[in-house]
Amino acid sequence: MTVTHSSNEEIIGRAEINDVEAILAIPNVDPNEIEHVVKNNADSIFSWDYTLQRPALRKLYEKAKTGQWNATTDLPWDTDVDAEKIAKEERELIGIGLDPARLDGTPVAKWGDKEWLEFNMESKNWSLSQFMHGEQGALLCTAKIVETVPWYDAKLYASTQVVDEARHVEVFARYLQEKLGGEYQVNVHLRMLLDDIINDSRWDMTYLGMQVMVEGLALAAFGFQHQMTTEPLLKQLLRYVMSDEARHVAFGVLSLKEAYDEMTDAEIAQRQEFAFEAALRMRDRFMSQEVWERMGINTRDILPVILADPTRVMFQSMLFSKIVPNCKKLGLLDRNDQWLRRRFEEMNVIQFEDWEDTGEEYVKFELGEELAGS
Ligand SMILES: [Fe+2]
Ligand SMILES: [Fe+2]
Repeated sequence: MTVTHSSNEEIIGRAEINDVEAILAIPNVDPNEIEHVVKNNADSIFSWDYTLQRPALRKLYEKAKTGQWNATTDLPWDTDVDAEKIAKEERELIGIGLDPARLDGTPVAKWGDKEWLEFNMESKNWSLSQFMHGEQGALLCTAKIVETVPWYDAKLYASTQVVDEARHVEVFARYLQEKLGGEYQVNVHLRMLLDDIINDSRWDMTYLGMQVMVEGLALAAFGFQHQMTTEPLLKQLLRYVMSDEARHVAFGVLSLKEAYDEMTDAEIAQRQEFAFEAALRMRDRFMSQEVWERMGINTRDILPVILADPTRVMFQSMLFSKIVPNCKKLGLLDRNDQWLRRRFEEMNVIQFEDWEDTGEEYVKFELGEELAGS
C-alpha cells in the first residue's frame, strides 16, 4: 500500500516554499514577551529494566561524564570584545554574505560601509541570540526526553545533555549580555519549530526535531562561526559547545536508527514530514527578518532578493551538511518513494547526502582534538 503524504499547505501552511508573503504573514515575537507557555503532551515513562541494552548509548554517557567543562572557569571571560573591529575583520574574510552585483535597485543599493558594518554587527548579535534561544529549546527538550524515552540507557545519557544545554544557554546569554550589550527576541519561525517539537506526544519526535534537525544545524553553524571568527573568547566558547553538540547529534542518530528501522511506512511518512517542516522553519528563520527591520528595511522588498542570492543560498545550504546525511542514515530520505529526498532537492541541500553522518563523528570533536580548519 502506498503511503500518502500531506501537502505543503498542511505541513507548513503554504503551498509554495518560497512564498514570501506567507512567510512574512506570521508576526514577529513581541520583544517584550518574557514567558511563553507550550503544552507538553507526553507520558512520563519509568523503565524497570536496568540492564545494559544499548552499549553505544552507554559509551556516549561515559564520554559525556568526562567531557564536562565549567563555563565560569574554563573560558577567558576577561577578554575585551570590540564588536566593530571584529565585524570589520569578518567582513574582510567573507564579505557581506550577499552578491553585491545583485543589489542594484534594491533598498540596500545605497548602503555604504557604515550601514554594512552596522548590519554585520546586528547580524552577529541576532544569530548568537537565536543560538541562545535554540539552546534553551534543547534544555527543555532534553529534560523531556529523560521522562519520555522508554530506554534506561537513553535516560542516563539524556540527563547529561540537560546539564550540557544549561551550560550552553549560560555561555551564550553571558556573552550577549557582557560582550554585546543585549540580545534579539526569538525568531518566530524558530519559536514555532520549538513549540511543535515540545508539543508532540511521540518521544522520537523530540529527538528528530531537536537532536537531528536543530542540533544538526547548530553543529554546522557553530563550526562555520568557529572557523570564521577572529574573536578568541567566542572561538573558544564555540569550540567547547561543539564538543558537546557532536555527542548530542550522535545520541539522536543512534537512538532513532533503532526506532526507525522498526517503523511502518505510514509512521515513517509522518517523520519525513516533520523533518521537512523543521528544515523549512529553520531556513525561514535564516532570513533574519528582525535585523532588516531594525535596519529600517522593508522585509517585503529585501526577502525575494535574499532568497534568490546565490552567495547566500550557498552559505545557507552548508547549514544542512549534517542534517542531510543523518536523515539518510535514518532511512528518512528514501523511504516512501524518496519523498524527503525530493523535498531536499527542492531546497537545494541534497548534495550533502553522502557526507559523513554524525553517529560516530563526536570523537573528532572531543576537547583536545584539533578541528579541521581551526
Ligand atoms: Fe546545546
Ligand atoms: Fe545540544
